[in-house]
Amino acid sequence: MPHSSARPAPLPEGEEKRRALQAMFDTIAPRYDLVNRIMTFGLDRRWRQRAVASLTLDRDSRVLDVACGTGDLCRDLAGSGYRPLGVDLSAGMLRHARTDAPLVRADALLLPFPDRSLDGVVSGFALRNFVALPPLFAEAHRVLRPGGRVALLDVATPSHPLVRAGHALYFGRVAPLVGAALSDASAYRYLPRSVAYLPPVAELLDGLRRAGFAAVERRSLFGGTTQLLTATRSPE
Ligand SMILES: C[S@@+](CC[C@H](N)C(=O)[O-])C[C@H]1O[C@@H](n2cnc3c(N)ncnc32)[C@H](O)[C@@H]1O
Repeated sequence: MPHSSARPAPLPEGEEKRRALQAMFDTIAPRYDLVNRIMTFGLDRRWRQRAVASLTLDRDSRVLDVACGTGDLCRDLAGSGYRPLGVDLSAGMLRHARTDAPLVRADALLLPFPDRSLDGVVSGFALRNFVALPPLFAEAHRVLRPGGRVALLDVATPSHPLVRAGHALYFGRVAPLVGAALSDASAYRYLPRSVAYLPPVAELLDGLRRAGFAAVERRSLFGGTTQLLTATRSPE
């Protein structure tokens, strides 16, 4: 009889990852917002507001929320006087969106917008879900006008050992239980594992610079459990 192994299947890559994530987000869409609020004690809202505040663009600026999901960032953008629009790959997430912003079903790595047509690009907790980051950064750069701003939010691994241990316990053990109780067990088992997709900080910042961004900065939020990357599209 073959041994049953407790080792989880390797994380998908490439087209397989794209398809698996689209299906996963379609499944968890109905309770996505509820689980987020409970899992982060509502702090996720504050982090998105920090991302929007970091744009420092003029009122009425056109800002694209890439991988907008249910539209949380779009609502914050509108609340700050911007004109948001969103794209996401998951029809389920878009169906459950609660925003007046125009939303399009599209791949963030092939944005359906002309060159230099937008003032800002934001993204919330989606970087590790893309098949690759260089094409995402290149697309953000392409659609932004010179001087346009980017603000990208995602989870991070805290550098302080004690915080890292506490976070690993919560994010790795408790959060999946909350997700399983309220939504879908396998999707929320994927959540802590998905952090492995994120490149090291230096590589992230370098990737933005190589795509043509200047003033590349990283802010660490909530003890290093969340990170906010900001940059400006260089004038050429
Ligand atoms: C963790 S959710 C984040 C949703 C939202 N930004 C938020 O702040 O709550 C990740 C989102 O990325 C979307 N996504 C994953 N890959 C994508 C891609 N290649 N293009 C567009 N959206 C994608 C998923 O459908 C999902 O809605």
